[in-house]
Amino acid sequence: MAQMEIRIFGDPVLRQRAHDVQDFDGRLATLAQDMLETMRLADGVGLAANQVGVLKRLFTWEVPIEGEDGDVTRHGGAVVNPTLIDSSEELQDGDEGCLSFPGLFYPVQRPLRVEVSYQDLAGDDHTVQLEDFFARVWLHEMDHLNGILFVDHLAKHDRRAALRAIREYRLEQGLDEPDKPAPPGNLLLGRRSR
Ligand code: NI
Repeated sequence: MAQMEIRIFGDPVLRQRAHDVQDFDGRLATLAQDMLETMRLADGVGLAANQVGVLKRLFTWEVPIEGEDGDVTRHGGAVVNPTLIDSSEELQDGDEGCLSFPGLFYPVQRPLRVEVSYQDLAGDDHTVQLEDFFARVWLHEMDHLNGILFVDHLAKHDRRAALRAIREYRLEQGLDEPDKPAPPGNLLLGRRSR
């Protein structure tokens, strides 16, 4: 298994739309396994292929749920070519983060329930109904596949704070050089919320 590099906000690949997966082969399975491993090492609950620089409609997710007996069950796996079939008008509130925005969490409103069709790594079709945190995770990851990021859903002041924080993070990590003029179409401006 190989740990992959997680792209940080400002990387253009995070704003691109991923392509449908056509080949359900060993390479896809290996990519999914590497993504799952990378996600676990980063303590994430979801990771979209865009975030490791691959424009395929694939994400991995894993949410540990502690039962009454204290045992932890992990729910998750790999999701390919997901399509949102339905979402509830009823909304949920909760803080959200993203591995491409390390350490940042802000409140994001999401539908409480969703219905999603998708394929597994073998190419078999499934439809699933999800609610609460599971719905939030899947919606967040499906957004990634369309180049949409959680900051696009934030209130204005939170969005400004997030973009400021990630700019500082990029400088600290040496991902950007200080005093360098912004590239054309400055990606830090991101895209307007829908
Ligand atoms: Ni994310």
